[in-house]
Amino acid sequence: MDQLVIAGGKPLAGEIEVSGAKNAALPILCAGLLTAQPVVFDNVPDLRDVGTLLRLLGSMGVTVERGVHRVTLCAESVGNPVASYDLVKTMRASILVLGPLLARFGHARVSLPGGCAIGERPVDLHIKGLQAMGARIDIDHGYIVAEAARLKGARIFMDTVTVTGTENLMMAATLAEGVTVLENAAREPEVVDLAECLIGMGARIRGHGSDVVTIEGVSRLEGTQHAVMPDRIETGTFLVAAAATGGNVRLVGTRDDTLDAVLDKLEEANAIVERGQGEIRIRMRGPNHGVSLRTSPYPAFPTDMQAQFMAMNAVAQGTTVVTETIFENRFMHVQELRRLGANIEVEGNAAIIRGVSKLEGATVMATDLRASASLVIAGLIAQGETVVDRIYHLDRGYEKIEQKLSCLGAAIYRRSDGDAE
Ligand code: UD1
Repeated sequence: MDQLVIAGGKPLAGEIEVSGAKNAALPILCAGLLTAQPVVFDNVPDLRDVGTLLRLLGSMGVTVERGVHRVTLCAESVGNPVASYDLVKTMRASILVLGPLLARFGHARVSLPGGCAIGERPVDLHIKGLQAMGARIDIDHGYIVAEAARLKGARIFMDTVTVTGTENLMMAATLAEGVTVLENAAREPEVVDLAECLIGMGARIRGHGSDVVTIEGVSRLEGTQHAVMPDRIETGTFLVAAAATGGNVRLVGTRDDTLDAVLDKLEEANAIVERGQGEIRIRMRGPNHGVSLRTSPYPAFPTDMQAQFMAMNAVAQGTTVVTETIFENRFMHVQELRRLGANIEVEGNAAIIRGVSKLEGATVMATDLRASASLVIAGLIAQGETVVDRIYHLDRGYEKIEQKLSCLGAAIYRRSDGDAE
């Protein structure tokens, strides 16, 4: 298994380009199932999750062509509308094929995701929404088996804000008969990017970006070309890494308007943030003050940035509190951060972080995607060598992270299985 080896203590400095958003690319690639015509997607990040999804689409009979950051799909015929447990268990977002398959082909068989490292994460709202649109859904040996001659528009209220739930139902509704209204919909920018892609395919969608999305079904969708939005979580991760190391970094190819809550918190922690056209620059004004925060659906502070801020808070002046309200088990980075010398106590869904003057390198284990990013940031702060083990989690969601950090002057390299210790 690959590891990242980091010699910490160097401030990051320089400029890097942000990749396309994983969480926008995954639903957008699934939208390719909604039309028989070819679709071309640009700015698709080169990530393990994207590879997994393309394998899944390929196994169903979709023609997949992959270039550098460009993917062309053609779902003219799909002989096998099945997402197996093996794929869904490695990537929950595979559930995003359910809505498109059912809407276009009238049936689908998609494995239930099962448990996952950061909490229970059920898919009941996806299922309930499709049932409201007239689908017959059975659970058969751990698989969701869904059938519908043609889905029918419906008013659907989701009692929890769910990102992939909103995306799945929005995609399904594009080909339904009549109007669907999604209430308490997710407002995340990735939902908006997907909606814009669908509109490019001929879908009729209004209200995306608000909590009520209205979709008027059409009988068929066409091909399109769409560029995936920049990754706001990758952007945020590099900004925190820069701030935590006392660096001076410029990120290009990004969108500051998707990051208000994160940029606000960085300023509160004593960073100077300059927003430009498609770029963000960060440096510290003075000592790291750390910052207390509470995760919530967009536009509030994203759960996917919580772990990275905790690494920064570990070496801040004073005590901060990080409260997680989205997932019930998302503090697994805490015990690893403690191994580096952080002083963190967990009480229910809050972590109390008492800033220490330094972290010290050690071997730590990545447990999920964003926890891994937090450990890399901690390794960049720590004195001496940090080895981050099990970085396959990181490869799911960060394109060439070690190359990008090297460009910013970090002493970091990947040690592969075959390399001698
Ligand atoms: C997406 C993101 C993930 C991010 C999360 C929250 C993708 C591919 N992943 O995950 O990076 O951390 O949003 O911003 O976009 N819930 C239910 N029933 C459901 C669905 C969800 O109770 O049917 C609950 C979940 O358990 C969780 C909350 O709703 O407590 C939010 O989850 P959700 O927004 O669905 O997360 P994902 O879409 O899986």
